[in-house]
Amino acid sequence: MNFSQPSITELEEKYVIDAMRTSRLSGDGKYTKRVYEIFRERFGVEDMLLTTSGTAALEMAALLIGLEPGDEVIAPSFTFSSTINAFLLRGARPVFCDIRPDTFNIDEEKIEALITPKTKAIYCVNYAGVSCEMDRINEIAERHGLFVVEDAAQSVGSTYKGKPSGTLSELGCHSFHETKNYVMGEGGAIVLNEKKFIERAEIIREKGTDRSKLLRGVVDKYTWRDIGSSYLPSDVLAAMLTAQLERFDEIMEKRMSIWNFYQENLIDAERAEKLRRPIIPGHVTHNGHMYNILMPSEAARIWLSDELRKLDIPAYICYVPLHSAPMGRKLGYVPEDCPVTEELGHRLLRLPLSARLTTADAAEVVERINQLLSKMPV
Ligand SMILES: Cc1ncc(COP(=O)(O)O)c(C=O)c1O
Repeated sequence: MNFSQPSITELEEKYVIDAMRTSRLSGDGKYTKRVYEIFRERFGVEDMLLTTSGTAALEMAALLIGLEPGDEVIAPSFTFSSTINAFLLRGARPVFCDIRPDTFNIDEEKIEALITPKTKAIYCVNYAGVSCEMDRINEIAERHGLFVVEDAAQSVGSTYKGKPSGTLSELGCHSFHETKNYVMGEGGAIVLNEKKFIERAEIIREKGTDRSKLLRGVVDKYTWRDIGSSYLPSDVLAAMLTAQLERFDEIMEKRMSIWNFYQENLIDAERAEKLRRPIIPGHVTHNGHMYNILMPSEAARIWLSDELRKLDIPAYICYVPLHSAPMGRKLGYVPEDCPVTEELGHRLLRLPLSARLTTADAAEVVERINQLLSKMPV
């Protein structure tokens, strides 16, 4: 059974071949523009730039908000390394904040106690496609003069109080990596929710040059203006993403049908206190990015994932908490610094979920889990 394989059809193939033959291979061609149009029509996004990865989008955000050595950034430790590396590369220091036990997102009520005169930004992460408590986070940030970067790598298509993910702070960062809901192989996007970022973002993305102005015919030669890197993806990859976004509803519906199937059919296991199902706050909608079960202990999580894998059902831990990972320890953190993350992070198990999975696959997963839980030794 596949774990999270993307759904690729003849439409993706057609657009990729067309891009190779007729578009600007090095990027910013007709398919990149089409992606922007779709985001405008669907989510009301005015300004965004496709990037070579979600990681690149997060790095661009760190450059755009001017992070420097000595700055502190508050972020969850329950995330992917890229969230933290993005500003560590600029010399800023992560200040890890614990997570909420219900959504596993940054605990907004623990942020304020971590703010010091060195704090410059909050990087928040929409874990499993479920938005953080953005009103409260933005309110704290405004009061203390901090930037907020929304790591929306997993939450394309989700909403918070009716507003699309990625548009809920100054800068939103999406991922279109192979493992995400909408894919371009490797790729991402930075959503620029304030006009002041646009000009510099274009320069940073084009190796520190104003080449994009030349391509728009605004200048007659381009030159080196700022630091930057190679953050602009090929239009061939944008072509793949265009097809995926044209299939937006189909992919979303397939993922949601699997997610909902798990949610409806694991209720008895939850009632028997063998596991806890995901908790989705009423004011958010999610995109079915992941389905995670919370096991009663780490030993139970390890046992169940091992048993499922013996039955050819892939199920994995989500993240090893970063504060207690080797790099987190090198930075001086100890497991006790984020006790909720440390406790729950090791108990979460991610079940197979993709637009290619069938309801029969999901039924098999549920059946096997229920059988195994009835003889769980731990
Ligand atoms: C929360 C989070 N942030 C950032 C990233 C990095 O995205 P990418 O793989 O596109 O660089 C990921 C991807 O796994 C992620 O899950």
